Amino acid sequence: MGTITVTAPAKVNLHLEVLGLRPDGFHELAMVMQSIDLADRLHFTNTADARLTLSCDAPSLSVAGDNLVMQAAELLRKRSGFTDLGASIQLDKNIPVGAGLAGGSSDGAAALVGLNALWGLGHSSAELEGMAAELGSDMPFCVAGGGQFCFGRGERLEPLPPLLEPLTVLLVKDPSVSVSTPWAYKRFREQNSDHYLEGEQAFEQRREALRQAEWTQPLRGADPPPLRNDLQSVVEPETRAVQIALQLLQTLKEPLAVAMSGSGPSCFALFRNPEHCQQAQAELLDRFHEAGLRSWCCPLRPDGVRIEA
Ligand code: C5P
Repeated sequence: MGTITVTAPAKVNLHLEVLGLRPDGFHELAMVMQSIDLADRLHFTNTADARLTLSCDAPSLSVAGDNLVMQAAELLRKRSGFTDLGASIQLDKNIPVGAGLAGGSSDGAAALVGLNALWGLGHSSAELEGMAAELGSDMPFCVAGGGQFCFGRGERLEPLPPLLEPLTVLLVKDPSVSVSTPWAYKRFREQNSDHYLEGEQAFEQRREALRQAEWTQPLRGADPPPLRNDLQSVVEPETRAVQIALQLLQTLKEPLAVAMSGSGPSCFALFRNPEHCQQAQAELLDRFHEAGLRSWCCPLRPDGVRIEA
């Protein structure tokens, strides 16, 4: 097999609730993550020369061992036991970097899926999700994609029933600003640890409440997601770009809800359909430009990383 191309979509958090602290030092989370139609593309070419090389059209991005694509490739090769495996990887970047959209994690997930196929390793999706969890809390979600409850550190997935409406997000980000995820969780802990839940029973109660919420049961009720992101309470007061993005999105007539994604600074508004989303984007385009913000209309996607035909 010569070259394989993989689509690696971004995600937004429809719900991010911090429940408490885990013995491993990570936070116990109850989330709903949702893939959106904004994606990087990765091309994998077999070299069979024991070398792994990454090139990227975004010059600011590291193509060394700290890139999750390289970490995923190394892990997969190590697990295979075939040290002579090699690949040349080209990353076409469309998802903004350091944005709370899991762009880097999705690229890493794409490397697991793409190289598994290129090298003919035959790992199941569950095995790939297991390796993904070793590399990052939200990487298993990126392998599976669509709409998922994400519990534990974020790596425990339960698929959400498909939403009834063709919901679309208007996504907004200042390209010059990024937020450190460890910083956001650390700050959240400093301000909220007095109210953290403790113990598996308390955690499971919150998970069950989310599973039973009307909006996560589209066949039962047609409520749109109300959107909740606990990290917004610490990132918004310290990040001017988030304040401006949320203020602008809140001036719109129709959005069903507005929130920050992940640890930010991307923010988004949720619309019932793509036409309403595009109208809203057109309405605010000049003000986005003035504020130095980029914007995208992205329908929700039912899948995660996918090998292109
Ligand atoms: O797993 P990942 O490498 O994406 O996590 C980045 C950082 O975010 C962690 O080092 C930790 O500081 C914080 N984090 C957390 N609890 C989680 C996920 C991430 O505290 N469930």
